[in-house]
Amino acid sequence: KKSLFSGMQATGTLHLGNYLGALKNWLEFEDEYECFYCVVDMHSITVRQDPAELRKKARNLLTLYIAAGLDPVKNCLYYQSHVSAHAELAWILNCFTYMGELNRMTQYKDKAAKHAQNINAGLFTYPVLMAADILLFQSDIVPVGEDQKQHLELTRDIAERFNKIYGDVFTIPEPYIKKTGARIMSLQEPTKKMSKSDENPNASIFLLDDTDTIIRKFKRAVTDSGNEIRYSEDKPGISNLIEIYSIAAGKSIEETEKEFEGKGYGEFKLAVGEAVAQMLKPIQERFAELSKDKEYIDSIIKNNAEKAEYFANKTLRKVQKKIGFPERI
Ligand code: TYM
Repeated sequence: KKSLFSGMQATGTLHLGNYLGALKNWLEFEDEYECFYCVVDMHSITVRQDPAELRKKARNLLTLYIAAGLDPVKNCLYYQSHVSAHAELAWILNCFTYMGELNRMTQYKDKAAKHAQNINAGLFTYPVLMAADILLFQSDIVPVGEDQKQHLELTRDIAERFNKIYGDVFTIPEPYIKKTGARIMSLQEPTKKMSKSDENPNASIFLLDDTDTIIRKFKRAVTDSGNEIRYSEDKPGISNLIEIYSIAAGKSIEETEKEFEGKGYGEFKLAVGEAVAQMLKPIQERFAELSKDKEYIDSIIKNNAEKAEYFANKTLRKVQKKIGFPERI
């Protein structure tokens, strides 16, 4: 069976970009692939976190994975910090990654600018830990949003470099980035991507926002001074809303344009809000239910960590042997 890995940070609440760009797409792979979906709490500490909050957010994220429809028996849902092989392989891969490569990462540059008072070494080597995540599971594909593309390219470079020296140790992963939904934009500044760190709460739809909030945020969404509901580069606000609507309503971009031909922005925004609220409602209900069932979630956390560890250690042992670490007796 082929393998697949993806993950999300436990910081903040998931937003519509995380859902449409990644989580929603994850549902289609469980029969065809051995799937690993990680809550990457080790990545989260590259910026300061409140311990109690981090623990809570990590658990909520894992619960949301299930609430969104991932079957926790068919898919391995676990915390990165429960599988020490991530850290061990990351160290090894650090020694196969150049400073120059990491210096070129745009996400690092953005984050370093934002967290100027705490540009720690972890923030810099963040993409190497990500490469370790992916390569540990010999992943064939990695379903992510557009913003992770550069990290995926680095992962492939590191894997190819390693394989060239030691033989075929790692599967070279392919990014899986869908055409629609891969880059959902801010509702307030539609030339910027929707982001967890945005300070304006109206810029993002959070997965647990209630219906009224969702509709209000879409009503306030920044568009343009025109009146045509048409997908086009010079209409970033409307194009973003068309993209969101088309996924939420299960239609193509063209069908959406047709449906709203001649209609006003106000009517369209309301329809987008309603479609999104309707899409998220079952997830929210399931999330509320699951959150009450502590034992069930605990059992998933335990079983899946063991499963992930088993697969991860297979790769780690192989790597350790290849590079010349003494064998265990
Ligand atoms: P994170 O937590 O920032 O985002 C999780 C997923 O959501 C996607 N995404 C978006 N998609 C569309 N529009 C947006 N506005 C938007 N914002 C975010 C991201 O592309 C991602 O797929 N480094 C990763 C987590 C990670 C990972 C990995 C991913 C760690 N190890 C290994 C894949 C494989 C991150 O910070 O994602």
